[in-house]
Amino acid sequence: MSQLTDWMTRLRSARITSYQREGSDPDETDRPLPWFMMMLIGAMFMWGGFYIYDTPSGDASAWGDQRSLESLMPVLLPAGGSAKLDGAPIYSAKCVACHQGNGAGVPGVFPPLADSEWVIGSPTKLIQLLLHGVVGEIKVKGVTYKGAMPAFKSLSDPEVAAVLTHIRSQWGNQAPPIDASDVTAQREASAARTTPFSGGAELESLP
Ligand code: HEC
Repeated sequence: MSQLTDWMTRLRSARITSYQREGSDPDETDRPLPWFMMMLIGAMFMWGGFYIYDTPSGDASAWGDQRSLESLMPVLLPAGGSAKLDGAPIYSAKCVACHQGNGAGVPGVFPPLADSEWVIGSPTKLIQLLLHGVVGEIKVKGVTYKGAMPAFKSLSDPEVAAVLTHIRSQWGNQAPPIDASDVTAQREASAARTTPFSGGAELESLP
């Protein structure tokens, strides 16, 4: 028993001495941001606010390549010519569903454009046909079709010229290109028309 007490006393005194020897645990003291940091952050906020306030917005940008839509138009739609505007994508977007990629149409339903007298013939009639559409009987390569070809008035003059030039030079067709100015003239000449042509007969009667 006395041996145990003795041992505990020794243990206790050993602990006391280790406490004394090691000093206290580290702890976080109260350290506010230094005043100059606060001032710096405040100054940065003020500078940021002023910078946003001071930056012009809505004006022409000083960056970029400075090209406006007007300066690009002659490149996008070359004046008086459809040569640069490609008719192929217009054909793919607007015509291919009916007249097919190979221009052969669908027998009995959609007439062919390949080797069609309407396509390689008179530009005037072809332009009129595309602008206003046709409803009723039309004879193509000896076959009579009786359907409805939609009007494409909504295309611009250079687009009409481009798609017509395209179909006149595809699938073995070899007719001269159509100029945007011809489309403009035909559009003006038929400005009063609101209905499609009734069949090929009415188109034939055009000058
Ligand atoms: C919704 C189907 C449809 C679309 C789309 C369509 N066509 Fe037609 N197209 C017809 C039909 C049908 C006829 C025959 C009209 C008739 O029977 O009166 C026709 C007739 C024609 C003709 C005269 C006949 C011939 O075969 O040569 C031409 C030229 C023509 N289309 C060109 C075009 C072009 C170019 C486009 C695209 C810009 C186009 N079509 C888009 C259905 C269509």
